[in-house]
Amino acid sequence: MSALWVFGYGSLVWRPAFAHRRREPARIRHWTRRFWQGSTDHRGVPGAPGRVVTLLPEADAETWGMAYEVAPAERERVLANLDHREKGGYARHQVPTELRSGETVEALVYVATPDNDEFLGDAPLEAIARQIASSVGPSGANVEYVLELDRALRDLGVDDPHVAALAALLTDRG
Ligand code: SIN
Repeated sequence: MSALWVFGYGSLVWRPAFAHRRREPARIRHWTRRFWQGSTDHRGVPGAPGRVVTLLPEADAETWGMAYEVAPAERERVLANLDHREKGGYARHQVPTELRSGETVEALVYVATPDNDEFLGDAPLEAIARQIASSVGPSGANVEYVLELDRALRDLGVDDPHVAALAALLTDRG
């Protein structure tokens, strides 16, 4: 069995919580990251969803995150774990992923497309921030998700204006 590559762009950047033997900052092209996915199982509850990131196709966009290489022996266990963790509307996609070192790998990416039941879509950033500020779920406060992602991207030297603007609205920087 071959190794598995997983590309994370949300919580999987700052809290992978699965076994991997290598990780490297990476980008995927033609996708943009947005807080457009509702969360009733991690950062909100049914009736009061939080907001988490998904990817939307966009011709000129790129999204930076973290790519993880999973050893063949761990592959099935990790896939089962991730399918469970991402069950709130996300589906598996295979995407060419450019590691910062230059290599391109085919990676598994969990994307929540607009046809899933939890999808919320666009809203004014201030409204998104208000929703996040008041949302809490089994995995914790929705604000933590935004701030941890913002911090992790900054640590990677990545400038994501959507994430940074939201983080600013949720802290003194707003
Ligand atoms: C990901 O991080 O790649 C998927 C979305 C999430 O779990 O936050």
